[in-house]
Order: sequence, then C-alpha cells, then structure tokens
Amino acid sequence: MNAKDSHVDEKETTHREEQEEKSSEFLNLRPQKLAEYIGQTQVVESLTIALKAAQKRNEPLDHILLHGPPGLGKTTLAHIVAAEMGVRIIQTSGPAIEKGGDLISILSHLEKGEVLFIDEMHRLSKVVEEFLYPAMEDFAVDIIFDKGMSARSYRSRLEQFTLVGATTRAGLLSAPLRERFGILREMEFYQVEELSLVVKRSAAILSVSLDEDGARAIAERSRGTPRIANRILRRVRDFAQVRAHGIITREVTDSALELEGIDKRGLMNLDRKYLQTIIHYYKGGPVGLEAIAATLQEESDTLVDMVEPFLLKIGFLNRTSAGRKATERAYQHLALDGPEPQKNLF
Ligand code: ADE
Repeated sequence: MNAKDSHVDEKETTHREEQEEKSSEFLNLRPQKLAEYIGQTQVVESLTIALKAAQKRNEPLDHILLHGPPGLGKTTLAHIVAAEMGVRIIQTSGPAIEKGGDLISILSHLEKGEVLFIDEMHRLSKVVEEFLYPAMEDFAVDIIFDKGMSARSYRSRLEQFTLVGATTRAGLLSAPLRERFGILREMEFYQVEELSLVVKRSAAILSVSLDEDGARAIAERSRGTPRIANRILRRVRDFAQVRAHGIITREVTDSALELEGIDKRGLMNLDRKYLQTIIHYYKGGPVGLEAIAATLQEESDTLVDMVEPFLLKIGFLNRTSAGRKATERAYQHLALDGPEPQKNLF
C-alpha cells in the first residue's frame, strides 16, 4: 500500500467515525451527566464547582475553553455543561462561521444562560474573532454601518450566555481571545484503567459481552482516547459476533485488530508511515514537519492534530528546535535497527 492509499484509509475511517457519531446509538454512549463522566478528574472537578457556584448565584456560567487532542471528550463536556445547567446548547465551529453577520445572527438568538459551543476555535477568522470580544466581555455586539469616513457603529445588547470553546491548538488562539475565557482547561490522554471503564460502560450500553482482559486489551490499543476506544469496541463486537461466539476476550480483540491494521500500542497505518518516513527518508531526523507532510502527501495539520500528540506522549517522537526525531523506542516498536550513533565531534 502506498502513502496515498493509507491517506485515503485514514480519511475513510474518520468519515465512518463521523457517521457513527451521528447515529443515535453513538450518542447514547456519551455520558449525559458529570457524575457519569469517566476520567479528566481535575477538569470535571473544577467544572462541577463552577456549575454549582453559578447555580447558587443564579448566574450564567463563565466562558470555558477546553483544549487538547481530538476525541478526548471536549464536545461531550460542553453538552454535559448545558444539560447540568438545564439550558439549550447551540453547536457550531470556527470554519462554519464565515462572516461577522453569521456570528451576530447566532448570538442574537441566544436566550439567557444558554450555551454556545464553538468547536475548532483556532479556525475562526480574525474578523469574526473581533466580534466575539465585546460579546464575551460585555454581552453586546457592535454593528458597523458604511465604510471608511462615514463608518458608524451601534451597540446591540445580547442575553448573558456561556461560550464553550474547544480547540486542538490552544497555541494558535490569539492572547486577547484566550484571556476572555474565565475557565481554561487542558484535556489529557486517558489512562488504560480509565479507558477500560469507558469500554465496559459502552459494552453494557451496547449489550455486548466482554471479559476484564478483553476490556483492557481494547483500552491498551485506544491511544488514550475514548472516541477510539468506542470505535474499536464496535469493530471487535462485529468480529466477535461473526467469528467468535459474541464474547470479547483479549484473543478476540487481538485477531480483530490485526485485521484492522491496529497494532499492540494502538498505532494505525498513518502513525507507522509517519515514523517510517522519519526513519527511512530522513535517517531518524531531525526533520521539519513540512518535509514529512510532503513525503506522506498528508496535511501537516492532520499530523499535528491526529498523529503527533500520542507519539510524543508514548515517547516515540521528540520535537526539537531542529525538527522531529524518532526515538529509540520507535525503532524498537517497528523492530528496526536504531539510529546511527552520533559521531563524536571533538
Ligand atoms: N464515553 C466516551 N467518553 C466517555 C467518558 N469520558 N466517560 C464515560 N463514557 C464515555
């Protein structure tokens, strides 16, 4: 399979994931209350306190920014926040809001206390972002008429709402935007034990039988990410039903995931291709991101969002000022000889 095919594969997987997310069965897998939410204990605790305090004072909740890799539950938490406050949530995303007018229209339809969830905040245009500042700070929008010398603006008041923003790239948000959030929290990769609980909870909802070791086997291959754990659970459930009496064990998981091209650490085709590119084309690195992206014929944003965070987390990748480097562990995992030892320069 060439780089282009694996690229298509990953895109298809993402598409299938998106379709599944929209199915009602997937929605049921998402926890609806903070008490049902597994993991992210510090984020959950600080949100619980903020929610209770806002309810006690009968005030809308402060604006919240959640950042971290995809699939860790940012959207789920936004929905839970709205449900816990007993208000409606309106969901949109940075690239969907093309003009200032689009944002003004959304904002002016919000009722008191409602939650506006904006995913991919880092993809908001500068113009739209500037409309957000007074909206977040003063619950008002400045509508501008005419241009140049005759430009006039008039301030329109909004109901007090709560903005929940999500981004995979907090570093790309401008400082003025970041500063307007009262609560900023980073979502972290889940521990295997936490993912095991997520898998068991989802299996119970889907009425699929699995033993303790089967849940752990799925958790170990889910790259610290509940969305991946739930996706793998579905694939393994299919395999178990067709090939193995319906019960998910470690052996069933191993066989099912071998077929899916998911290895023992949960790496997929694109993850392996990424490491192999650094190792085979660039002698293990350091190499710039754009060079890797060009070799793989892949968007650099996809690599930064979907591939690199977990490889960094498990110590397969180093990011240095000179570029990306594959580590000894990456070589071992791919069963390749290590990088050439550095020659002593002195
Ligand atoms: N399903 C997906 N993410 C979850 C989480 N964090 N807790 C419980 N169930 C989940």
